Amino acid sequence: MEPLVAAIDQGTSSTRFLVFNAKTAEVLSHHQVEINQSFPKEGWVEEDPREIMQSVYECMERTCEKLCQLNINISNIKAVGVTNQRETTLVWDKETGEPLYNAIVWLDLRTQSTVERLINKAPGRNKNHLKHKTGLPISTYFSAVKLRWLLDNVEEVQQAVLSERAMFGTVDSWIIWCLTGGKYGGVHCTDVSNASRTMLFNIHTMDWDPELCRYFDIPMEILPKVRSSSEIYGWMKSGSLAGVPISGCLGDQSAALVGQMCFEEGQAKNTYGTGCFLLRNTGTKAVMSDHGLLTTVAYKMGKDKPACYALEGSVAIAGAVVRWLKDNMGIVKSSSEIETLAAAAGSSYGCYFVPAFSGLYAPYWEPSARGIICGLTQFTNRNHLAFAALEAVCFQTREILDAMNQDSGVPLTQLQVDGGMTSNRLLMQLQADILCVSVVRPTMAETTALGAAMAAGAAEGVEVWNLSPGHLPHIMSEKYTPQINSDESEFRFARWKKAVQRAMNWET
Ligand code: G3P
Repeated sequence: MEPLVAAIDQGTSSTRFLVFNAKTAEVLSHHQVEINQSFPKEGWVEEDPREIMQSVYECMERTCEKLCQLNINISNIKAVGVTNQRETTLVWDKETGEPLYNAIVWLDLRTQSTVERLINKAPGRNKNHLKHKTGLPISTYFSAVKLRWLLDNVEEVQQAVLSERAMFGTVDSWIIWCLTGGKYGGVHCTDVSNASRTMLFNIHTMDWDPELCRYFDIPMEILPKVRSSSEIYGWMKSGSLAGVPISGCLGDQSAALVGQMCFEEGQAKNTYGTGCFLLRNTGTKAVMSDHGLLTTVAYKMGKDKPACYALEGSVAIAGAVVRWLKDNMGIVKSSSEIETLAAAAGSSYGCYFVPAFSGLYAPYWEPSARGIICGLTQFTNRNHLAFAALEAVCFQTREILDAMNQDSGVPLTQLQVDGGMTSNRLLMQLQADILCVSVVRPTMAETTALGAAMAAGAAEGVEVWNLSPGHLPHIMSEKYTPQINSDESEFRFARWKKAVQRAMNWET
């Protein structure tokens, strides 16, 4: 039997566990569990760390059962990789193993006043004051401000820091610590791609930065050890996979870049999940954006390998707009129904929907923006709203693609896409129309998990997956080419931009 490699994909909306054949990259079995989000106050988004871990254990055990039913021996699983929603912030007690507060999800806006205070103390009130070290603007999005909030507001966290029991981590650190033994000697680590989303990590020295920690007043002793994205961090302590090494760790957007085989400078992918994230590999150079993009560490495939960087355009709300139409508005019964409604409309008929529920991320970085729907008439019905919601995802991608093209000076001639929403064919065609470039979708949807599995399988001491050119698996894809003329596309995009201005200035 050929070696197998597994991946835990812990996203904002769900957890999945997948097992791949390391030679063909074929998915042999998988299991998925939805994750509850709570919204305790306006703008707050939390998840329960215990539920996250339960979902990880459940997905692993159910997948192993399914493999057994297929007569596949789980002892062929040689390694496990972890990929995760990034920036989401946790603090737990290393002695009890218990979380000290819910996970504060990346979308959460509670730190808006903290961010204002931090920007006020930056010279010239410059939100890019720390960008030369972090690649990031000061924003509610990143972990440092969420951790600051926990240290300021949660007594249990304050006490645990004083008694040296506190551990901070993003979701990858929490999962790896729990799986490698938790309070009985779990490994407290993260990888460079996740660390680069905290605002405490210097993307040039590749380590936690004392000056940044001072700026946010974060005690450095609670931070995890930063490792490469592909090395053995530890071994599974319990369950059906006890003894299997955990040897890959990548933030989910980095994992998708790897799973889409974007190893060359200039290659890019856009992933449509809860949010939407376009990353372009810039090789070993950390390129700073002049157009509102982030500079991030893409991956480091081994202790002695160089780090590779990416320019990133982050959109906070993509799939989340469909979830909102379903859960909050009852406009669709299931996420897939949106395609049927939008197809029935055929157009938004002048309706524009800017889903700035968490402010606006790239290229604006405006936390006070709020969602608006405009251009309504008595003719407008739920079908048009559904269409406008899908169009919003495409317009937001167009904005970040334009910024990316301006920064790099070399326009992308096609866009590689992946993520849950890409099964929506209408969305894919709309995206090609609005970008005026072809959109290429792999027929294998699990590129994020694949990237994490590749990192795990290639790690020193595992070596069942060869990442050198010529050995990468070939993934079949389908292509959507633009079907409308560019004048029409530009007209719609110009209208969208007006709607964005309204969303940013809705109070004035
Ligand atoms: O930065 C947030 C991102 O990692 C979340 O990804 O797939 O849960 O939308 P996703």
